[in-house]
Amino acid sequence: MSLTPIGEPRQKITVASLREKKIQHQPITCLTAYDYASARLVDEADIDIILVGDSLAQTMLGYENTLSVTVDEMLHHVRAVRRGVKHALLIADMPYGSYHVGTEDAVKNASRFVKEGGAEAVKIEGGEKRADLIRRVIDAEIPVAGHIGLTPQSVNVMGGYKVQGKSLAGVEQLMRDAVALDRAGVACIYLEGIPREVAAMITAEVATPTIGIGAGPECDGQVLVFHDILNLTFGPPAKFVRRYGDAAALITDAVQAFRSDVLSRQYPSDSESYHLSKETQQALETVLERKQGMRR
Ligand code: KIV
Repeated sequence: MSLTPIGEPRQKITVASLREKKIQHQPITCLTAYDYASARLVDEADIDIILVGDSLAQTMLGYENTLSVTVDEMLHHVRAVRRGVKHALLIADMPYGSYHVGTEDAVKNASRFVKEGGAEAVKIEGGEKRADLIRRVIDAEIPVAGHIGLTPQSVNVMGGYKVQGKSLAGVEQLMRDAVALDRAGVACIYLEGIPREVAAMITAEVATPTIGIGAGPECDGQVLVFHDILNLTFGPPAKFVRRYGDAAALITDAVQAFRSDVLSRQYPSDSESYHLSKETQQALETVLERKQGMRR
């Protein structure tokens, strides 16, 4: 898919436009972004959805998993991303613990992402068992993105990051989860780490757009983590990750070149330096000469 042709105004992506794209069989694009610069670049590349994922716990903050990141830490990043996004739909991930304590707490935290962060929707992990809670958040006028399959906030329950829905019972549970979210009226459903065949069945079954990550090509859209596509994750990539660039190599080369230029006094050059005006230079020389004369 090409970028919006020059001169043609870009459309603001809304929850309604995602549904329209599903109906029109137009693939939906989504990437994570966690700061102003990456948000601007992703938005200006015409990506439909920007997700401030709680994956920032690992990619930006160096935590071992997503469980430690707080609402306040997430909000810090959502606000920065908000300042960089004009056209994409901005979804904020609700971190672990922000919707697990009670419905009131969940609605309060979700509304912080809208009010303080400028998010247009929030993402909540879990299917059937979260449907009532999600309805309450939607009732508070906050669009919700669902997320089922390999849900990283359940890492301790799953016993690791394992592909979900491989058994018949697992497939049936995933179908129930997807249908429950569809009925609850979510804006889209993220399908993570599930067999392609199951993602295809879900996508055909529900009216809600599905966005896959490690869920095969039949989903209505695809999402990847910004740092994964740019080789900024310091580890072996998951099977579904495709690297579209090597920012690690680019950054390392640039940093090493800077160091080498400083050590060899190649940086800064004269043209990279500020200068006194001729008049000030002359006045300064006169003062210095006078001082030297007085010393003699
Ligand atoms: O946190 C995240 O980045 C996500 C996506 C991978 C869907 O939840």
